[in-house]
Amino acid sequence: KPQGKKFTIGFSQCTGADQWRQTMLSDMKRALSFHPDYTLLYEDAGNSTEKQIAQIQSLTNRDIDLLIISPNETAPITKAVDAVFKQGIPVIVLDRRIDSESYNAYIGGDNFEIGRLAGAFIGNHLKGKGAVIEVKGLAGSSPAQERHRGLQQQLARFPGIRVVAELDGEWERDTARHRAEANLAALQKADLVFAHNDVMALGVYEVCKQHGLTRQLEFVGIDALPGPQGGMQLVTDGLLKASFLYPTGGEEAIETAVQVLAGKAVRRETTLNSIQIDASNVRAIKAQSDKLLSQQQDIEKQSQRIDELKQTYLTQRNTLYVTLAS
Ligand code: FRU
Repeated sequence: KPQGKKFTIGFSQCTGADQWRQTMLSDMKRALSFHPDYTLLYEDAGNSTEKQIAQIQSLTNRDIDLLIISPNETAPITKAVDAVFKQGIPVIVLDRRIDSESYNAYIGGDNFEIGRLAGAFIGNHLKGKGAVIEVKGLAGSSPAQERHRGLQQQLARFPGIRVVAELDGEWERDTARHRAEANLAALQKADLVFAHNDVMALGVYEVCKQHGLTRQLEFVGIDALPGPQGGMQLVTDGLLKASFLYPTGGEEAIETAVQVLAGKAVRRETTLNSIQIDASNVRAIKAQSDKLLSQQQDIEKQSQRIDELKQTYLTQRNTLYVTLAS
């Protein structure tokens, strides 16, 4: 790296509104705090594929050295990423995939495996018999497709279990709520709701609760975030029978970006591990994760305080110089 060279990383995020993506961004910022000569340009597409394509182009025009992208939908965004990569700008794809080879590194959880883990849990939990409703993520995004395939592969082992409805929750709590309202008859007859993420599971749960359907229905989700509003709390409360940890990869993305920009070779595929969170392990894992979270928040507060002190020092030093010079 040339002496004193500063790097700009562009980060194109499909949506920034939910807690999982906010966790991803703070994971990135924490990793970046060790690299003061790096700047992050952040664009949030608010779940819009068109907007994300435009943002990728505008990031490129702003002279970024590397692009990190979590694409809203796989197929329609691939071309835009191809164009960036062809210009010689390195690309790191995070969590959701593109359709081509136009990237230096892909980092993400194994969504097929998570779907399989969920299917095995559901099959065993229902003792091989029952009606399941699947609430899917955005159809065009790779985790929704892979989680669905993984589920199907495992449920095939349990002929007594039927998926009686597939609802398109598009990853969003409100959309899942609306789909649930429109499918009350199916929910009434079901035994278990499996949602591709915890916030959709929660949305469907809320609707079922309003209609008195939560007594016979059970819920399973994915993400298992720590903190008071996260999926681990929902498992603790018994609202979810299980959830599956889905790591954000934010920290790994920044570390990989730094390697790439230093001219080092990086691993092309990084798979982040998942783990099943249920009544048997949630206490221990939640205690650990919550502690880590609060330590991270303390570190953020301390570094803000250090920044403030630096500012104070600089102004005082300037005042001193001015005073001495006069
Ligand atoms: C957050 C989210 C997560 C899910 C992931 C899949 O925006 O919907 O809940 O695990 O995206 O890409």
